[in-house]
Amino acid sequence: MKPKMVIGNWKMNKSFEEADDLIIAIGEQIAGLRLETGVVLCPPFLYLELATDQAQEADFTVGAQNCSEFKNGAVTGEISAEMLAELGVEFCIIGHSERRKFFNESNDTIAQKTNILLENQLVPVVCCGEVIEERKVNRHFEVVEKQIKESLFHLSKEDFESVVIAYEPVWAIGTGETATPEQAEEMHAFIRQLIEKRYGTETAYAAYILYGGSCNAQNALDLFAKPNVDGGLIGGASLKANEFVAIIEAAETVIKEN
Ligand code: 13P
Repeated sequence: MKPKMVIGNWKMNKSFEEADDLIIAIGEQIAGLRLETGVVLCPPFLYLELATDQAQEADFTVGAQNCSEFKNGAVTGEISAEMLAELGVEFCIIGHSERRKFFNESNDTIAQKTNILLENQLVPVVCCGEVIEERKVNRHFEVVEKQIKESLFHLSKEDFESVVIAYEPVWAIGTGETATPEQAEEMHAFIRQLIEKRYGTETAYAAYILYGGSCNAQNALDLFAKPNVDGGLIGGASLKANEFVAIIEAAETVIKEN
């Protein structure tokens, strides 16, 4: 099994001071653990520099929660991939279901964001996932396939290898209702097969496919133990240092046992 990856998506939470405290607390708690797990913190834009400053001395890297699909110029209120890269940000979540819902982000926009992130050497963390109505009528595979193909499969093999995918069933986000490890594994295996058909076995095996949606310290071990679940994209449970670090420790346990 390859090392896992655990990403904390703070969403629109924390004051400046709370963010500073949380970044420091996570850094302190993981110091000396000699982690194999890749840890990424994604605070709101305004706190990114706090995180990148600390990241120089700590065992985590930093991601943003969004970026503009445009390079630069007259795009009021937006933040470019180039600005993120200049700050030392290495990852960027795109296509989160909350952005698809509140900001009408389409697969096409996500494809453009993927391109501009890769041009700036950032790792796009591309989210996909179905809503409950789609799962109820057994359309979840079809929906995720379309999202992945339309936002990512234009990439060359080399570029695709720099992308992280996060499967986040929308019905599991912030609801306390996690996908079962079997449901997650089934979808992750399906996504890996899509990658294999498009880019070959090696690329498919190396691809990181994270699970997100009410993942917490209690259920992380069972989810991460599934062979196609390469880690987690954590929302609510990433807002407390102890809980987030317990999730990272679950990832370490799985790796050490395999
Ligand atoms: P929760 O972990 O709060 O369900 O959020 C998941 C998520 O949306 C991470 O991007």
